[in-house]
Amino acid sequence: MSSDSDRECPLDGDPHQQEMVPSKKSAVLVDGVVLNGPTTDAKAGEKFVEEACRLIMEEVVLKATDVSEKVCEWRPPEQLKQLLDLDMRNTGEPHHRLLELCRDVIRYSVKTNHPRFFNQLYAGLDYYSLVARFMTEALNPSVYTYEVSPVFLLVEEAVLKKMIEFIGWKEGDGIFNPGGSVSNMYAMNLARYKYCPDIKEKGLSGLPRLILFTSAECHYSMKKAASFLGIGTENVCFVETDGRGKMIPEELEKQIWQARKEGAAPFLVCATSGTTVLGAFDPLDEIADICERHGLWLHVDASWGGSALMSRKHRKLLRGIHRADSVAWNPHKMLMAGIQCCALLVKDRSDLLKKCYSAKASYLFQQDKFYDVSYDTGDKSIQCSRRPDAFKFWMTWKALGTLGLEERVNRALALSRYLVEEIKKREGFKLLLEPEYANICFWYIPPSLREMEEGPEFWEKLNVVAPTIKERMMKKGSLMLGYQPHRGKVNFFRQVVISPQVSREDMDFLLDEIDLLGRDM
Ligand SMILES: Cc1ncc(COP(=O)(O)O)c(C=O)c1O
Repeated sequence: MSSDSDRECPLDGDPHQQEMVPSKKSAVLVDGVVLNGPTTDAKAGEKFVEEACRLIMEEVVLKATDVSEKVCEWRPPEQLKQLLDLDMRNTGEPHHRLLELCRDVIRYSVKTNHPRFFNQLYAGLDYYSLVARFMTEALNPSVYTYEVSPVFLLVEEAVLKKMIEFIGWKEGDGIFNPGGSVSNMYAMNLARYKYCPDIKEKGLSGLPRLILFTSAECHYSMKKAASFLGIGTENVCFVETDGRGKMIPEELEKQIWQARKEGAAPFLVCATSGTTVLGAFDPLDEIADICERHGLWLHVDASWGGSALMSRKHRKLLRGIHRADSVAWNPHKMLMAGIQCCALLVKDRSDLLKKCYSAKASYLFQQDKFYDVSYDTGDKSIQCSRRPDAFKFWMTWKALGTLGLEERVNRALALSRYLVEEIKKREGFKLLLEPEYANICFWYIPPSLREMEEGPEFWEKLNVVAPTIKERMMKKGSLMLGYQPHRGKVNFFRQVVISPQVSREDMDFLLDEIDLLGRDM
């Protein structure tokens, strides 16, 4: 009887599927396959790589700084499917056709390195991390053992050490993860492991109702982590924030007492340094005092705001971060290290990360290797294969120096200040709040609404303004910035400044363009 997979093989009946015919007398055949010599045409492959690199250079790198280029070439999904020739066929396609496809992929992709891409918490082109990426893509390493990734493991160690220094710890540990969301999840699990170390073997049964606290402005990854780890989203206590989006410490303490009264077991407080929408920084010192009083693990999600630590002028935003037990920090955001580049840093030096995550696979982490196996750091991760993300940041840091990174942060925040002042001056623009960081949240009020009283009808009408302007800007391809409704506030724009390619002129353009696109509403 044939299996389903036999019956459904897409290659059945394909005229191109033939047995190989040996051309040499000495050819060795196994199952009809000639085994002599390599079968790839290396010369043709090398030429293809060269031509594709030239295309990337011409169409991506050289155009990245040109504001006359479009940020995006918008097409609706059904149309884009037709344009892209997505089908994968039984026979391969010639190189000239593949290069055409590469050109199409570039053309219809959003140019996140364009100086007028302000849509997310990452942007711009960093030449050094780009080269690091090219190198790691070409070398294809996996960062788990020193034997396969000697350089990248040492680079990761050096970068983590430096980040730990900037947090203000004397020593610590860490690991690069695929995303700040994953770092937050690692931290939550680590805090729980510290609270009940036998959870690793015994699992969840028998545990009290574990509860954690974070601000109402925290990143949504906290909820995801709680559900993924079996803590449950109902056991994430959202602490109220003040008018600027900062956690209110007194509310935190009240909620901890309340949870204890209800018989729950508090184990973690997660503060945010640089919230996703408003860019707010929680008061870490006060929160650390509370954590100390209650014996709770303090995790700081500094995925976005951590980069302010590089600036002597702005690092005060994170005052008290050295008191955290763990910190998530994404150099791929403000420091432009290329997605993904995200570290979880841990103050503990008792090998907690390893104790919590290791599985001691004997085929990979043999203890009798001929070198110091403490460099086989992969068992601190929940991953097996892992990308050398620290290398991107290392290259950028090497190229710019600490002073260059500081300048990048200072400039982004100075440009943000400029935009804030321009918004205040211009008719029809209204700031939501005075920003602390590089998130500038504002409404555009079109002329037809400017005389209207701020009642329900006004807010209802204003709610459609940002989405409509966003649609228009994307169809035109002139710029991209995000909008959202947020905690009772109707849709507003969130402008994020990151890239050193961005200039004062781009800030002026942004406001002019919004006004141009929304003036008739
Ligand atoms: C505060 C904060 N934490 C965590 C994350 C998640 O980071 P990632 O996108 O790398 O998973 C973000 C993303 O924007 C964020 O703003």
